[in-house]
Amino acid sequence: MKILVVGNGGREHAIAWKLQQSEGVERIICVPGNGGTATLNKCQNLPLRIDDFQAIAQAVIEQEISLVVVGPELPLSLGITDYLHKHTQVNVFGPTKLGSQIEASKSWCKALMQTAGIPTASGATFTNPRDAKSYISAQGAPIVVKADGLAAGKGVTVAMTIAEAQAAVDALFQEDSNRVVIEAYLEGEEVSILALTDGKTIRPLLPAQDHKRIGAGDTGSNTGGMGAYAPAPLVDTSLIQKIQQQVLEPTLRALQERQIDYRGVLYAGLMITPQQEIKVLEFNCRFGDPETQAILPLLETPLDELLLACATGKLEQLPPLQWRQEASICVVIASGGYPGNYEQQKAIVGIAEAEQLGVTVFHAGTKYEEGQLVTAGGRVLNVTATATNFEEAIKKVYQGVDCIDFANKYCRRDIGYRLFV
Ligand code: AMP
Ligand code: GLY
Repeated sequence: MKILVVGNGGREHAIAWKLQQSEGVERIICVPGNGGTATLNKCQNLPLRIDDFQAIAQAVIEQEISLVVVGPELPLSLGITDYLHKHTQVNVFGPTKLGSQIEASKSWCKALMQTAGIPTASGATFTNPRDAKSYISAQGAPIVVKADGLAAGKGVTVAMTIAEAQAAVDALFQEDSNRVVIEAYLEGEEVSILALTDGKTIRPLLPAQDHKRIGAGDTGSNTGGMGAYAPAPLVDTSLIQKIQQQVLEPTLRALQERQIDYRGVLYAGLMITPQQEIKVLEFNCRFGDPETQAILPLLETPLDELLLACATGKLEQLPPLQWRQEASICVVIASGGYPGNYEQQKAIVGIAEAEQLGVTVFHAGTKYEEGQLVTAGGRVLNVTATATNFEEAIKKVYQGVDCIDFANKYCRRDIGYRLFV
């Protein structure tokens, strides 16, 4: 089978890396891919824009692609799946434009959850700042303000005071938002449940946790994610069953009721409260990054078979997912300055030395320039290690991280610390 993967991050490198391990996969084309996918076995990069659906459809036809796997939310929310269905015969892993609203519109998602009785923070949607601010005054702080549309992790303000929440509302309406969601502040531990679905059956992958903040101890600015681990011990078998019953199944039914044939990943960002209640913070319409880089190294079931079964509506026919009984941890190496301004084009050394220690290095923001691997993004590399337990995995991952160098390299040294508190 020939597969086309859309995206250029660590998530897409991890997906391509897992896919090429399957005997049934003949070739993988990454659009546009990165320095890691450029040199991966069976894989080649194709430098097209991820929103140039016409060019992607043409590549699908010319290269006789059987399956397209869409990594990022942007092309999904713009309707890449609908476009490819209309113009080609290809199977697509990733929901349609309507289905992607579960991530691309927080107000649409909130309404779906409220109607379907899916547990989430109480909240309301506002289309003008005056009403939003009087709601905030009435509710009090802490309170959470969310931009309605895609905001690359920057659209949420967890406000500790009424003034902070009101300032966030003003800022959003001054930008291009015309709609905000305001919801109750929740306390607890966050987990990411990435579930695969073919629109009829839904199966969770191993639970994961990520570290969204830039600084040690989960402090400082929000980022795309600085590290992740799986399986998250917080989510035991009985909790995963509750998540399946209270969140995943009813969400899929609610999508079906809206005539949405959702095939891809349904990613539930959950808060587990101190009372062990489950609350949905958000849904994403795609694999998590960097959770995917921690989860996929533990997957034994061939990924191509799983993704194709989702895209063709045959997930129920597959046997239960098989996992290695190990712990997996992923540390993101970023460019100094990220998530603010950072420099690029810095020469990267030490990846081969790291891999000799048994870690896997996924590329997130890299490219080759005149044969030299250089940095090409804020998040540069994702070093992943698996071992029999988390202590060993963490030791191993940082040994790998320490082999790698480039000017202004930055990473958190405490990924996984919550496992031991
Ligand atoms: P979201 O994009 O909705 O997941 O929000 C981004 C981050 O903001 C989450 O990962 C949480 O850390 C935080 N957050 C979102 N909603 C809430 C909430 N209702 N209570 C507390 N923290 C929240
Ligand atoms: N790791 C968070 C996300 O993928 O949205």
